[in-house]
Amino acid sequence: NEGALWGARFSGGPSPELAALSRSTHFDWDLALYDIAGSHAHAAALEAAGYLDAAEAAAMHAGLDELAARVKDGTLVAAPGDEDVHGALERVLIETVGPALGGKLRAGRSRNDQIATLVRLYLLDHARTLTREVLRLIDALVAQAEANAGAIMPGRTHLQHAQPVLLAHHLQAYGWAFTRGIERLRDWSVRASVSPYGGGALAGATLGLDPQLVADRLGLARPAENSLDGTASRDVVAEFAFITAMIGVDLSRLAEDVILWNTREFGFVTLDDSYSTGSSIMPQKKNPDIAELARGKAGRLIGNLSGLLATLKGLPLAYNRDLQEDKEPVFDSVRTLELVLPAFSGMIATLRFHTDRMAELAPQGFSLATDVAEWLVRQGVAFRDAHEISGALVRACEEREIGLEDADDALLASVSPSLTPAVREVLTIEGSVSSRTGVGGTAPERVREQREELVSRAQSA
Ligand code: ARG
Repeated sequence: NEGALWGARFSGGPSPELAALSRSTHFDWDLALYDIAGSHAHAAALEAAGYLDAAEAAAMHAGLDELAARVKDGTLVAAPGDEDVHGALERVLIETVGPALGGKLRAGRSRNDQIATLVRLYLLDHARTLTREVLRLIDALVAQAEANAGAIMPGRTHLQHAQPVLLAHHLQAYGWAFTRGIERLRDWSVRASVSPYGGGALAGATLGLDPQLVADRLGLARPAENSLDGTASRDVVAEFAFITAMIGVDLSRLAEDVILWNTREFGFVTLDDSYSTGSSIMPQKKNPDIAELARGKAGRLIGNLSGLLATLKGLPLAYNRDLQEDKEPVFDSVRTLELVLPAFSGMIATLRFHTDRMAELAPQGFSLATDVAEWLVRQGVAFRDAHEISGALVRACEEREIGLEDADDALLASVSPSLTPAVREVLTIEGSVSSRTGVGGTAPERVREQREELVSRAQSA
């Protein structure tokens, strides 16, 4: 078992079947540069504690720099005999700086505390990338809200016409959901900024290496408080998987809106050609594939989260090899979102909204009936009665196949003497929308204020 991290107590090398099952270099190679950063920090701690003299430390750092350069240019790759990225990098380090020095680096650390630290470094980096990408999406939503500030659309509950709302209000609702996504990433980052390095395999260190020094070098706030927890917990990974799954689910909901809006029946949007796809047989087709892929990939993000939780649920403390299964799902979640988000933002930024069509549909389905009831309340009618009167007016209009706004004075009076012609002041979608001035409501000035608040919240997250 030449070059492996273990083997002395074994009579021979691992069987090929075991080696094949055990090998993780095809996915944990994404951690190579983080592993090297961890080794730089560890070498500094070894020097500070007197296990490396200044010359040895300098040679070690130079060797590690060479490894990093070779990882980056692709000349350092895993060998078939390497079990994982950590073993591979130690093998090459020893080839580079010689066995006498290279063999010293592993003192006082285990792959268990290493891996627990490196996954955090990887995720913290990608939390920053994802935050940037989600911010771009929020920008695209806000820009569309601004460009279509006056547009009124049918607001829906149960997918049925409910009350008219501003398109900007609807777009900004997604803006808030995505803002919480980046706030979650920020809050998570504080919790994740812990270094399990120094926990060893499980029980902690004997060599007196300074774990705060390692944490500082890696940009982490502090060492883990408990070596068992530090090496064997993965809630930080699961929480990250949840955040990505939640962002995926919010993308999926917006995707579903876009897909509906893009149908002939709705006719609310036209997708830009460069953000839509065609059909191999139907020449006329223009499909919303970005939205559909985003909706589809939400399933995958949810699967990554549930798979990881299932891996964790049966594990006694401390480290178990099952924990190697944390990486593929969460790396996949990162890659998936990093692929979906830029395309999705581009699709949103280039949507063309058909605001006439939205305005035409907005009053349909008696969507102003609540406005009638609330107008009656302002005239002194009890809401219970107002609800009945407005409902009776809907029934009367439905029978006559007319809209509420088409009811003449006689019809209004026949439904209730309280329904004077003055009720018409709320029977326009503009009147309805402008009257919703309560906090968070759809009145244009509220929506404008809300937009400013949204932009500043998103930018400070
Ligand atoms: N590659 C493993 C992982 O990703 C670390 C190996 C730890 N191996 C061990 N026998 N303790 O979790």
